This record gives sequence, structure tokens and C-alpha cells, in this order.
Amino acid sequence: MIKGLESIGIMYKHAKIPALLTFVLMGLSSVMVAAQIHITRNLVDNAQGFISGYVVLSVVGLWVLISFFVVIFSRSNEFFGTLIDVSIRRNLTKKFMPMVMGKLNRIDYACFEDNKTHDIINRISRAPQNSVISCFNSLIAFFTGLFSLFGLIIYFMTISTQFTLMYIIMTIIYCALIATRTKSHFEMQNKLANEVRTINYLDSLFTQKHPLTELRVFGGSPYIFKKWLGHLEIILKNHFNQNLKTGLLQLINIIVLCIWAAFMLLLSGNMVINGEQSVGFFVAVLAGFGSISGIASRLVENFSAYLNAVLNFGNFKKFMELPEIDLSGKKETDLSEIRFEDVYFKYPNTENEILKGVSFTLKQDERISIVGKNGAGKSTIIKLLCGLYKPNSGKIYVGGVELSDLEPSIMRKTFSAVFQDFGQYSITLRENVALYDTDNMEDDEKIKSSLKYAMGEDLIKKSDLGLDVQLGRLEETGIDMSGGQWQRISIARAFFSDSKFIILDEPTASLDPLAECKMYEVFLNVLKNKGSITISHRLASAKMADRILVISNGKVTEEGSHDELMNLNREYRKMFDAQADWYREG
Ligand SMILES: Nc1ncnc2c1ncn2[C@@H]1O[C@H](COP(=O)(O)OP(=O)(O)OP(=O)(O)O)[C@@H](O)[C@H]1O
Ligand SMILES: [Mg+2]
Repeated sequence: MIKGLESIGIMYKHAKIPALLTFVLMGLSSVMVAAQIHITRNLVDNAQGFISGYVVLSVVGLWVLISFFVVIFSRSNEFFGTLIDVSIRRNLTKKFMPMVMGKLNRIDYACFEDNKTHDIINRISRAPQNSVISCFNSLIAFFTGLFSLFGLIIYFMTISTQFTLMYIIMTIIYCALIATRTKSHFEMQNKLANEVRTINYLDSLFTQKHPLTELRVFGGSPYIFKKWLGHLEIILKNHFNQNLKTGLLQLINIIVLCIWAAFMLLLSGNMVINGEQSVGFFVAVLAGFGSISGIASRLVENFSAYLNAVLNFGNFKKFMELPEIDLSGKKETDLSEIRFEDVYFKYPNTENEILKGVSFTLKQDERISIVGKNGAGKSTIIKLLCGLYKPNSGKIYVGGVELSDLEPSIMRKTFSAVFQDFGQYSITLRENVALYDTDNMEDDEKIKSSLKYAMGEDLIKKSDLGLDVQLGRLEETGIDMSGGQWQRISIARAFFSDSKFIILDEPTASLDPLAECKMYEVFLNVLKNKGSITISHRLASAKMADRILVISNGKVTEEGSHDELMNLNREYRKMFDAQADWYREG
């Protein structure tokens, strides 16, 4: 089956009238070259007949009129084509973007771990409609070329078999040449995809404020630049080789084209000399060689565009088929507790088991603190709890229901979180705080009290716009914020939602010591009625928790209150004493 045919169905479904008009244009364009040759041939022969006196002027006038209409049509073809294209793009953008946004929201988080899949997601999410439109357009253009070719072949058959045969052979040779060029171009693109991704990343280090500041101040720029140059060298070298290859193929194309023209003129000239054909035919072939060979070159160009478009369309199909997280969970639950039951987990495409049988329970009104060394798996536990990944074995329950069976809205009512790498959104202060509970976006009092709890109320006074001040530097009026201020906003965001459980992964890492101390007091009060999981390397904060879990070697190795774990005299005590030493005087 011809690849990419589904794009016609999609187009017909979402942009019926412009798609139908495209078919009409396709039909008319398909007969145009053969018609032009026929008209020129008759025009010349009739004009010659008129001069010789055996054709009346009105017949010549009729052919002039017909040729006039054909010229008008071929000139306005492009104009109508553009109008139809704009209309198609409008329709598809409106229908596609929401569909793709929805898909992006549902894609299994694990897909982002695989570079190839991540590439597809990046490419498609920018302008998904383009992959369908270009596939449709290139298919239509290709078939227009193919029908024009058949039309011309049929027309030439009525004239000479030898002439037709030569035309077919030259077209095939031409097609084969360009197909080779396109294939090698794609192979190179695929080969360089990794290099391009790396160089784009390194590029961003030089253009984004934060990494650039650090790199400039501490002299890391030359090293990164050297790395950048290395990758650029590989890309340029490959491009050079590719251009050399393309140039050679281009040269061969031109030679083939010249041979073709010579054959055509010799054959048609010979037919005129032998009296098999009129002078009009020779003139029509001479004048129309551009259009005649143009069919083949356009056919090939459209074929290569079609190959490209089919690849992109294939990416679109792959994108739409990417595994989704199951949002069909129907079950409601009482949200009374969260339970990890012998959970094992390793990240997709990796070998290292991060969690090796983690079990714990968190009651609705309990505060637990998870501690452990860097890389112990604390944030991984949070990611599993939020459903970003699924355990390889073992179960996670909310109330009595498995996490994956939970009704999505219940899931949102269950958790709010401040992630270790929390989001910084260049939108207004109001939008930032109410982002996960947009129904209450206009509840100024609630937004203000969340900001107050998160010690971020001074941000309201930063501008006359109050809550509607733009954060970040996306707009000129936006205010630039410190790391600690962004963190306070992410805490306010977590407080704003009425979730039963709150997750705080290093929520105070960017706060100053006084603010940090105060923040933990706030947590103590605000989180009184919520279940909470706090992850922090500042072990003084763990003291406030009802229960502490120590994660080590992928397992919960110690569990209990601060006093119990101090008495146990194992890893927790070692960590606590080491930190406490810093605060002891003398
Ligand atoms: N997306 C990922 N793909 C593969 N491995 C990962 C990924 N994210 C984390 N890891 C690995 O999982 C392990 C646990 O990481 P995790 O972020 O859970 O540690 P953590 O206990 O939160 O550490 P920290 O105290 O530094 O925040 C680390 O060895 C890390 O390299
Ligand atoms: Mg972490």
C-alpha cells in the first residue's frame, strides 16, 4: 500500500472543502502539459494554414483564445493553490493542536527517557499539522505529476511509439538519480541527529542566562566552546561530503537532461522531415521541452518531498501511538493512607535497580520525613508516588486502591508537591500560584494566604499590578526573581491546592537559614491536617516528623521517630551528628 495515504483521510475529515478543491486543481493541472503541447501544435499548424490560405481566421482566433485561457489558468493555479493551502492550515492547526496537547499530557513519562522517542516528541509537538499537510500536499503533487506523465504518454502514443518509449526511459533514469540523492540525504540526517541535539544543547548554554553566568565567571566557557567546535566539525564534515555527493549527482542530472533534449529534437525533427508530423509538432516539442522534462523533474522532486513527508508523517503516527499513562482509572478511594508494598524500580533503558523492595505506610494525618545520601532514591520514590513511572514490581496503594487504578481527578485531590526541580513559569504571580487549581484562579484571598504561608507575600507588593505582575523576563514588564523567591512560589502553589497529602522534596534548598527555620514551623502548622512527605538533607527538619525513613541501598533501612533512630545509633545518627557538629560552638 502507498505509504502516507491516511493523510488524505485525515485531511478530508478535518478540512473537507479545501481538500476537495485540491483534487479539482489536481485534475486540471494533470492535463495541462499535454493540453499546452496540443494547443501550440494546432496554433502553429493553423497559423501556417491561414498564411497558406486554407484555414480561415476564425479557427486561428479560436486556438489563440483557447491558449489564452490555458495561460490564465496556469498562472492563477498558484494563487488558488495558496488560498487553499492557507485554509487547510487554519483548519488543521485548530483541530490538531488540542489533540496533540492532549496526547503530550498522556504520554508515558518513560518515553522521555529514550533519546529517539524524545526526538520524535520534540519534532512533532512544535507543528504537528505540518507532518500531515506536507504528506497530503506531496502526495497530491506526486499524483498530479504522475497523471500529467500518463497524460503525456497517452498523447505521445497517438503520435509515435518510438518517441513515447524514449520519453518513458529518460523519465525513469531521471527518477532513479534523484531517489539516490534523497536517500543519501536522509541517511546523513539520521546519522547526525545525535550531533545536532548535542550542539543545540551546548548552544543553549551560551545563550541562557544562568549557565552562561556561571560559565563566564568560573572560566568554563572555553572548554564548552571547544566541545561545541568538535561537534560542529563533525556536522560540517558530513555536510561537505553530502554536498559533494549531491553536486556530482546534479552534474549527472544535467548531462542526462541535455541528452534527453537532443533525443527529443532529433526524433521530432526527423518525423517532420519524413512527413510523419507537422511543423507544429516540432515547434510544440521545442517550445514545450521545459514543461515536458519539467514533469519528470517535478515528479522526482515531489517524490523526494513525499519520501521526506512520509518519514515525518511516520513520526507523527509513532507519536500518536506512543504509550500513554492509563487515565481510565475508575476507582474512587477514601484517601486515608498511602502504602508502598515491596516496590522495585529501575529507570527505563537502565540496568541499575534504584529501589529494591521499598515498603512503608503514610497515614492521612501523619508527617514523615525521608532521608538518605545523594542518589539514594528519595526523589525516585516521589516520582513513583506521583505516577510518573510505574514500579517494576510491587504495588503502591492510595486508600485501598492501586495508584494506577485511581480516577485521575482523585489523583489530583490526593497530592500536591514541591519537586526538587520545581517549575519556574514566566506567567503572572496569580497564574503561578493557582496553576494546578485554575477554577480558583480569581480567589485573591486564597492566593494571598497561600503566598503568606509560603512567605512570599512581599512579591505582591513588587508591582502596582499586585497578583497580576508578570514573573520572569519573558515580557519587558516582568520581574526577575531569585532562586529562593521561585521556591516560595512553588510552595505557595502546593499549599493552594486542597490536596490530602503534600510532598516536599528539598523544599527549602534555596531559602536562607531564617526563612528555612520559619518555613518548617509553617509546615508544622499548615500541614497539621494533611499527610506529608518531606525530603530534606537538613536533618533538623526531620526531627519535626512523626516518623523518619532512612533510604539506603534501595531499601528502607531505618524507620522510627527522631529519638528512636538516635538511640538505634546507625546511619541516621551518624548523619545527624555530623550535621549537628557544624552548629556546635567551640
Ligand atoms: N531519569 C533517570 N534515568 C536514569 N537514572 C536516573 C534518573 N533519575 C535519577 N536516576 C538515578 O537514580 C538514582 C536515584 O536518584 P534520585 O534522584 O531518586 O536520588 P535522591 O535520593 O533524590 O538524591 P538527592 O539527594 O541528590 O536528591 C541516582 O543514582 C540517579 O542517577
Ligand atoms: Mg532528590
